[in-house]
Amino acid sequence: MGRMPSDRTPPGGISTRLVSLSADSADPPGINDYDSFAEAYTASNENNLINAYYERPAMLALAGDVAGRRILDAGCGSGPLFAALRDRGAIVTGIDKSARMLELARRRLGDDADVQVAELGSPLPFPDDTFDDVTASLVLHYLEDWGPALAELRRVLKPGGRLIVSVDHPFAENLLHREAGLEPDYFATYNYVDEWTVGGQTALLSFWTRPLHAMTDAFTAAGFRITVISEPAVAPDTPRELLPDRIADRRRFLCFLFFVLHAS
Ligand SMILES: C[S@@+](CC[C@H](N)C(=O)[O-])C[C@H]1O[C@@H](n2cnc3c(N)ncnc32)[C@H](O)[C@@H]1O
Repeated sequence: MGRMPSDRTPPGGISTRLVSLSADSADPPGINDYDSFAEAYTASNENNLINAYYERPAMLALAGDVAGRRILDAGCGSGPLFAALRDRGAIVTGIDKSARMLELARRRLGDDADVQVAELGSPLPFPDDTFDDVTASLVLHYLEDWGPALAELRRVLKPGGRLIVSVDHPFAENLLHREAGLEPDYFATYNYVDEWTVGGQTALLSFWTRPLHAMTDAFTAAGFRITVISEPAVAPDTPRELLPDRIADRRRFLCFLFFVLHAS
């Protein structure tokens, strides 16, 4: 994901344009096709503000010391978080729906990296109690129903294991849609389609936004205990030129919401 409220063309980032809002669950063909813009997305994600200096450092800070831990990076994309976790001593497996994103992950991580095509929401190809941690970075918001995906993540986690999640912040999404002149019901789970432009390429992405209580309800229903809800600042080493003036002092903006959950 690559957006900042009221700043639709962040430097080096992804510009977004709202195409439609609906409660409909049928995605038109060609939507969410990460294969079609995998290189452009990966290049932007590498050094931009919201992925490289905000989302990824926040996930790593929440994960803490991961040396020796077995981690599933669910929705790993081209593997930037996988690489950072592995650099810190974790034994990492990645899954993603996009074969092209995983080709780029193998290029980054080496041919022997354990990355596999698999889809959240479907049964996962791992036995029960396999992982110490799961990271799900900017992926759950593509799913209408979090239940099946969370149940599978809970199944493959060892008892007491952690699920560390980042998703689009529901307040930010609702504000953006209001800024676009619409009046979505914050308390509803609804679909919206954005057109992303990244590295000169455009793609249509379909997201599901839901209120905060629907997120926490889904986590607890799947057998997780919520230990952290976080709205972090950008990383201390964020280059000044990447920060829009209006947030340069507070270094915070509404963009993503982070959770640490424990499998109970
Ligand atoms: C915004 S990218 C984030 C990639 C990576 N986590 C990162 O932060 O760099 C979202 C990724 O989720 C993947 N994805 C979307 N829906 C998915 C699903 N149902 N199952 C697995 N991966 C999915 C996409 O292919 C894409 O690689």
